[in-house]
Amino acid sequence: MKFSKTFGALYDYFMFFLEKFFLKKRRARLLTGLSGKVLEVGVGTGANFEHYSKDAQVTGIEPSPHMLPRALKKKEVLLFPNRFTLLHTGCGYPEMEKMFELESLDAVVCTLVLCTIPNPEMAMEKFMKWLKPGGKLLILEHIRAHNHYAGKIQDTLNPAWSRVAEGCQLNRATDKLIPESGFRLLRQDRFFIGLPFYEAVYEKPEN
Ligand SMILES: C[S@@+](CC[C@H](N)C(=O)[O-])C[C@H]1O[C@@H](n2cnc3c(N)ncnc32)[C@H](O)[C@@H]1O
Repeated sequence: MKFSKTFGALYDYFMFFLEKFFLKKRRARLLTGLSGKVLEVGVGTGANFEHYSKDAQVTGIEPSPHMLPRALKKKEVLLFPNRFTLLHTGCGYPEMEKMFELESLDAVVCTLVLCTIPNPEMAMEKFMKWLKPGGKLLILEHIRAHNHYAGKIQDTLNPAWSRVAEGCQLNRATDKLIPESGFRLLRQDRFFIGLPFYEAVYEKPEN
């Protein structure tokens, strides 16, 4: 995938109001209590970093060469920068295969990223393998509307949207994909900010 310099440069400006008035408090609620070994998928410019406590040891991956330097800069002004390892890679990239031991992660964090990664089903399989039993999958994503007509509008807009928004799929039903992948729902909240959004916590079943 080709990553655009303009998208990377404008992303924080484009998201400013959405973050300030809607998403920031949800990020805080999802992430503040996390501890142990955490994978954050597609960290972007690092919007989540300030919400992790010193008890979380975070490995962040980000394939865009235009987002990663911004995330690295954000990491350096944190209270605990040595708790973060940022890597230039992404889901589906060959080097990801051997990055984590089986059942070694306490949590996987996906915020505004499952809409963009090329093969979310395969990503779910990997998360399931890497998470410890009882490990958490934390989600903040926009999703496909359940309303038939709203969903059709998203389908129609999607080709243009995904061109402008660097591969983001406006109509991806992430809220359906996750339980179908075998994760157990702990809590969920649906909300609307121009688009239907989904905040949720899942866990890998203990068996
Ligand atoms: C809309 S941004 C969201 C960034 C960040 N997660 C946030 O919450 O602000 C989507 C991010 O997914 C990244 N991405 C694209 N393909 C990816 C992949 N295969 N694996 C991981 N991240 C990917 C993009 O580079 C971009 O930084």
